[in-house]
Order: sequence, then C-alpha cells, then structure tokens
Amino acid sequence: MARRAAEALLVLGFLFLPLTASSFLVPESRRRSGETGDEVLGIALGATHSCIAAVHRDGSIEIVPDDRGNRVTPAWVAFIDDGERLVGEAARDQYAANPNRTIYGARRILGRRFSDADLQQDVETLPYAVVDRDGMPYVRVDVGEDDVRLLSPVEITAAVFADMMDRAAAHLGRKVTRAVLTVPAHYTDAQMYATKEAGILAGLDVLRLVRDPVAAAIANGLDKHRGDPRNMLVFDLGGSTLDVAVLTLDEGVFETMASRSDAHLGGDDFDRRLAGYFAELFQRKHGRDVTGDGHAMQRLLRECERAKRALSDHDQHQVGVEVKALLDGVDLSETLTRELFEELNQDLFLKTMAPLNKAMEDAELEKGDIHDVILVGGGSRIPMVQQLVKDYFDGKEPVNVDGINPDEAVAYGAAVQGSHLTGHHDDDDKVFFGIVDVPQPAIGIEAADGAMVKLIRRDAGYPAKGTHVITTYWDKRTTMAVKVYEGDRTEVKDNRLLCQLDLSEIPPASIWNWGRRDIEVTIEVDQAGTIHAEATDKASGKSANTSYGYHHRRLSQEEIDAMMREADEFARDAKARLEAYVHSIKETLAAAGDMELEEKRRGEVEGEVMAVSKWLDGNTENAEEGDYEKKLWELQGICDPVISAMQTRLGGGLDDYEDEL
Ligand SMILES: Nc1ncnc2c1ncn2[C@@H]1O[C@H](COP(=O)(O)OP(=O)(O)OP(=O)(O)O)[C@@H](O)[C@H]1O
Ligand SMILES: [Mg+2]
Repeated sequence: MARRAAEALLVLGFLFLPLTASSFLVPESRRRSGETGDEVLGIALGATHSCIAAVHRDGSIEIVPDDRGNRVTPAWVAFIDDGERLVGEAARDQYAANPNRTIYGARRILGRRFSDADLQQDVETLPYAVVDRDGMPYVRVDVGEDDVRLLSPVEITAAVFADMMDRAAAHLGRKVTRAVLTVPAHYTDAQMYATKEAGILAGLDVLRLVRDPVAAAIANGLDKHRGDPRNMLVFDLGGSTLDVAVLTLDEGVFETMASRSDAHLGGDDFDRRLAGYFAELFQRKHGRDVTGDGHAMQRLLRECERAKRALSDHDQHQVGVEVKALLDGVDLSETLTRELFEELNQDLFLKTMAPLNKAMEDAELEKGDIHDVILVGGGSRIPMVQQLVKDYFDGKEPVNVDGINPDEAVAYGAAVQGSHLTGHHDDDDKVFFGIVDVPQPAIGIEAADGAMVKLIRRDAGYPAKGTHVITTYWDKRTTMAVKVYEGDRTEVKDNRLLCQLDLSEIPPASIWNWGRRDIEVTIEVDQAGTIHAEATDKASGKSANTSYGYHHRRLSQEEIDAMMREADEFARDAKARLEAYVHSIKETLAAAGDMELEEKRRGEVEGEVMAVSKWLDGNTENAEEGDYEKKLWELQGICDPVISAMQTRLGGGLDDYEDEL
C-alpha cells in the first residue's frame, strides 16, 4: 500500500510540478514512505474546520487533538514571508495581518470549474484572489517579492490533509497513511475526484470516500439496524454551511433520498452578528469604530465565537465578552445572555428550517416517517437550534450517542468505516454501507472479434474481481498480448486502453489438445482502485501480471465522465431499439389475430416477448448497451423467422418497427 501511495505521489508530482510546483506545498520528504503503522484515520474536512479520528491497533477510536489541544481545527492555510506555511489555528490567528495570503474555504472551490456559478458567487466573498487558468480556478498568492504562485484547490486541500497527517503522527507517535475521507452529501463526481486527488498528493492512502451524513449515521451506530427500511434525517449546521439530508437504510445500504443545503449559513454567521452588535455598542460607549480595524475586528470575532460556544453549555445563561485593549487601548467588557444571543440571531435560526422543509418535501416523507434525527456540526450544539429541530419533529429527541459530539461525528463515522475496511472489526459482515466512490467504468479485455469482455461491471464497488478464459485454436504464436480496457461500450475500440499483459515463451498450440489454448485472465481491483491484472497460459503455467494505479486513471477524469455519459446514451438508444422491436412484435401478433399460426410457434414468440417486456419493465437500472443488444439479437433470432413468414400476408409489421427507429 505504502509503495503504491508513493508511486501515486511521483506521478502526481510530475503532473503538478510544471503547473504549480507541488513541492512548495507538499515537500519532497513526504513522498518517501516512512515507517507506517496499521492504524487508520477518519478525516473530515469541512469548509471551515477539520477533524481527525484515529482507529488504534486495538480497534478503539479517538479524536486526535491539534497542538493546542483542540479536537476540531480551522481548515485554514496561510503563507507568510519566504513562503513559510501555517495551517490551522496559527493560520487563522494571523488573518488580520495577512488577509490576501490566508486561505480558507478551499473546499468551496475544490473540483469546480472557474465558470461555475456557485464558485463565482463565492469568489466575491473570499479575501484572496481566485484566477482562471485554463478554465480552472487557482488561488493567487504573493509569497515574496517577485514570487507569485498559482495554487490549485487540490494542492491547498492537500496542504491541509498533510497537516492533519502530521497532527495524527505527533499524537500517535508514528506516521499513519491509510484514511477514509468524507465529502458533503451534494458533492459531484468531479469534487470527489479532487478530494481523493488531494489526499493522494498529501501522501494519504485513500481507502474510501464516504458522504458526511452517512458517516454521521454510522458514528451513531445506525448502520447496525436490520429489518424494515429506516429513514433518517441528518441536520448538519457547520461553520459556513447547512446541509440537510434524508437517508434511508435498507438491507444494509444507505440511500440518499433528498439533500438540501444553504451554502452560506453557519456558525460563523452567528459570530459576525454578535461582533456587529458589540462593535456598535463600543462605538456608542467609546466613540470608536472597531469595524474599520481588521485586527481589532478579528479579535472581537474570536471572542464572540468563544462566548457563543460557552452559551451552548446547558448551564450557562450568561457569559462575559471581554477584549483587552480592543481599540486605542480601550477595553471591551460586556455580558451576553442567552436571550440576547437568540434574539440577535433569531432570523438566522429560523432560516435553518427552510432546507429542512425542502429536504422533507423532496423525500416525500411525513415527519412521522423519520425514525432517527441526527444532529451534526458545531452549530447543532446551540440549544436553540436543537429546540427548533426537535419542535419540527413534534418533540422527537435526536439520536444522542454518548461521547459523539456533533462536530466530531463525521470524522468518527469515517474512522469506523476505516476500521471495517482494514479488518479491525470482525463483528459484522463487512458490508460497506452506502460508501460512495467516484464513478467506475467497467473493466475488461478484448475478445478476438474486438468485443469488450467485461470482467468487472460498471460501478461494481471495490474491491472487485473477475476472471475470463480466452480460448484460441491452432494458434502458432509464442507471445500474446492481453489488453485491459475500461469503458462501457461493447467494442474495445470505443473504450480506453489501460494497460497490457505480455505473455511470452508460451508453447505453440499442441495437436494433443486439438490445438486448443486457454489463457486465463484475472482482474482484481483493490480498495484503493488499483487494478491488478494477470494472464496465465493454463497449459504451460507461464504468466504475466501488471498493476495499474488509480491515479493513472484519474488523470483523464473528464474523459471518463464523457465516456460514461456516451455509454449511457448508447445504452438509451439500444434500449429504445429493443423496446421498439418488442412493441412491433406485439402489434404484429395482435394484428395476426386468429390468423392461422402454428400454436407452438406462437406460444414461443409470445413467451419470449413477454419475458423481454418484463425485463424491460423491471430493473434495468444497471443494464448496458451490450445487455440490450444481446436481448435484441436473441429475440430477433426467435421472432424474425416467424414474423417474416407472416409479414408477407400482413404487410407492415416489421416496417413499423423500422419507422419507429
Ligand atoms: N459548543 C458550540 N456551540 C456553538 N457553536 C459551536 C460550538 N462548537 C463549535 N461551534 C461552531 O461550529 C462551527 C464549526 O462547525 P463544524 O466543525 O461542524 O464545521 P465544518 O464542518 O467545518 O463546516 P461546514 O459544515 O460549513 O463545512 C463554528 O462556527 C463553531 O463556532
Ligand atoms: Mg461539516
């Protein structure tokens, strides 16, 4: 694993270097694989904060604190003079002095194109410069004199991941590379790819990606539920976003029924409200404007956040808000009651109900249909927020597992996943619930006629394995190449060549087995998405094998997306052809009415048509172009001879079918 991660880094390093000098953010030393333990990390990277949960060797899970003892750390990166980098609290602390070299919220631009409307909206509110480079957003940072760097969101995210790894290494006393990463419920494939890529660039061995709400449900032990389908509502109020998801757990698999967000509503808004209020008070009392002083405002904001957090403690109804020498040597010394806090933020609290309402509407569920309400995100620690959600569900108590804090639940759930993936737990059936990964095209090899023989189906979920035996007759060759492709089209020429297995010194076909030669090909894709292919000449035992890393495939993500879209289109067309054919046969049979038709043959045709019709009505969700084509050929083979005999007398039947195409 470690070697593969190192290989991935080399490739990514090569890729990024000419563009953005990845070594600047992720130093060369990270690429050398040091001693790594068998622990695994659950890493949650939010728009504002990051959190790590580590699975120890004994299977226990612990939240990893940062160097200041905080369990949740700001996901901020800052560049100070000479290109030195600060991450976490240290980066946030120096924000006022260095706003345009301090980067937060990189997750918002990660995996998006520059032209993306949401990105454009976000860019307006970010203090640092985001520029267009070949259609992709890059952050422009003036590192030093005449040293301007363009950093991709992937690199910036990698820097945060790298820091998290260091944090874990410092705490655990050894480097840990294996990790499960979380992504928001609404993340697109491109955003997931980018997340995974950032993880690999940081030196992580990314075992899986899991969606935030699913991780939160797992953290609360809800994946253990068996029996009737269970509906869950995950309400995640973070630092700057609110995500609401409705999940259903059925037979061990999580499905997202609906997900709604407010991308600009979170705990930080409450801090700003408070800071605005106290700044006004300060102005009134002391005639000094704090809002015009970035440094003072920053200190006030930090103090307001602290006060807000303190008020979440159920016994606290009043807290002091104190900043020594806030401006011109004048202290701020005030108190904040819970009533005032709630009054100042009332409209924001109520605004949280909109995505909740919409998600419930989208899922077409009644409040009473929700079995579990799960509160996630630091903002959900606020009693008023908890009350609003509880009232919405007519007093239903949210799930509350001891020791799982709302802002740590996602990382915790990812760690639970990690522990399952690495075999720390052998108590259950190791079904990896609702785990999402980037889309996975089928993987296969070329048959003699150029057809794609699929050994691993599209979206099979990894790990996966498939075997196929290629048989040739009277083959005089002593070398043979087996080409491995990915793609969903029926012919390899339309798919993408990944790698090749070269068998050499294989004995020519022997007369003793009638010139028959069997080459067994096995393709295995491991959890990290790496393909391991092997071909063996069964008679001589000669074999060849190769591995093909996930990162190679990642490089053509857009190609893969386009390929999969194309494959879907071809599948749709093939389905339409099959449906039209079925329809025409049914019409022909109906038109034949009581016309003389051999009873047996009519029964046969009807039976086949009904079977295909039923198949079409049923679950064809995963059917591919080839599946439809195969059905069409089979059906034509049975029906055409019968129908064409009738056609002369009836006219039309099959012509209608052609018209419909
Ligand atoms: N005890 C508390 N009471 C109130 N708010 C809190 C408390 N603890 C943390 N918060 C707030 O929670 C927010 C951070 O939440 P979280 O760690 O879930 O964010 P995130 O996942 O990074 O953000 P996002 O979901 O927007 O990407 C901050 O605004 C923080 O002030
Ligand atoms: Mg979050």
